[in-house]
Order: sequence, then structure tokens, then C-alpha cells
Amino acid sequence: MQLYIDTANLQEIQEASRWGVISGVTTNPSLLAAEGMSMSDAVDEISRLVPGPMSVEVVSTDAGEMVQEAHELAQLADNVVVKVPVTADGLQAVSRLSADGVDCNVTLVFSVAQSLLAARAGAAYVSPFVGRLDDIGSDGIEVVRKSAEVFAYYDLQTEIIAASIRHPQHVLQAASAGADIATVPYAVLKKMLHHPLTDTGLQRFLDDWQQMQDESS
Ligand code: E4P
Repeated sequence: MQLYIDTANLQEIQEASRWGVISGVTTNPSLLAAEGMSMSDAVDEISRLVPGPMSVEVVSTDAGEMVQEAHELAQLADNVVVKVPVTADGLQAVSRLSADGVDCNVTLVFSVAQSLLAARAGAAYVSPFVGRLDDIGSDGIEVVRKSAEVFAYYDLQTEIIAASIRHPQHVLQAASAGADIATVPYAVLKKMLHHPLTDTGLQRFLDDWQQMQDESS
């Protein structure tokens, strides 16, 4: 399973990409608004930091306008993936865009039925929102697992991005459920890395080594 970072914060993207573990970036209008960044600035800045797929979302709701907006976004950089919501207009836009060769990430997916519709419309990616489903007492990982089963059964090539990730367990559960990608907030990536036994273990190695140096000098 690949890891993307789910943020529009350039420092977070830069820091995580230095670790060598990030294969792509996802943004949404809320994340861009939090950084006060336009879509075109985001594409410009993020594509310098991460060469992999970068999802940027349309804000139109009409199919024709989504298609036009998507083409404008796709022209900004080779690695742009256009995020489109799973509405009737969204599916119509995705089917037109996929025929035009524009990769789409169908977003705001909360059911396996929506995943299947997105895949049949020609989405390159589908993004089930795990955390938001868990927030309402549903089981977000089950949507990932069953979508993966359906896609495998029918050999559908659409990749599953487990989105709305809240904690490291979500990442591991998404991997076990067959997600192709998990898009992870920077705070969760840091939690995946840190373990108190690593910290105390490293300190003990360094202390023992220093003690030997002191004793032999
Ligand atoms: C990613 O594609 C989604 O936009 C994002 O993961 C949503 O996460 P949230 O539920 O924390 O806003």
C-alpha cells in the first residue's frame, strides 16, 4: 500500500517527503482554505515538492462546469489528479474526463455502491472517507474492504485511496483491507513513526557507547 500525505501545508509536505515514504498528495477545498492557497498556487508549489499524483478538487457542481474546471486544473501540471464528488453530475463529468484522458479521484465516497459507480464511470481513484464514517458510528474500513473485494472480483482497475484517516490504526486497517493507497495527515504520519521504546532504546545505545569512549580515554 502506498502512502500519500493529506494536506496543503507546504512545510508538512516537504518534511514528510524528506522521509522518502510519500508517493503523492491529496488536497481538498477545506485544506487549501486553511492555508489561504489558490488551486493553481497549490499545484505549482506542491508539484515542486512531490513528483507523484497530486489531487486537487473541482468546486463546480454542474457537470459541464466540472469538466471545464478539471481541464484547466489538469493543464497546470502533468501529475494533477482531479477530485470530483460522487454526485450524478460528478459521475457524468468523470466519464467525460476519463474519455479525455484526465485522471479523476472520486471523493466523498461513503458506500461500496458509490465506489462501484465511480469505478464504472472511469475513475482512476476512489476515496472512501474512513474517519467520517467512523465518526457517525459506521465502519469506514468495511467500505474499503468491500470495495477492494468488488474491484478484485471484476478486475476493475480503479485504485482505492483510504481517506479521512484519523490515527495509525486506520492506516494499518486500510492496508489489511486491500486499499491501494492511504492518504494520511502529517500528524498521523508522525504518530506512525514515534515509539517510546525507540526513543529510550536509542538513548541507551548512545549512552553505552559514550561510556565506553569515556572509559577508554
Ligand atoms: C482526502 O482525500 C480527503 O479530502 C480527506 O482525507 C478528508 O479528511 P477529513 O475527514 O479529516 O476532513
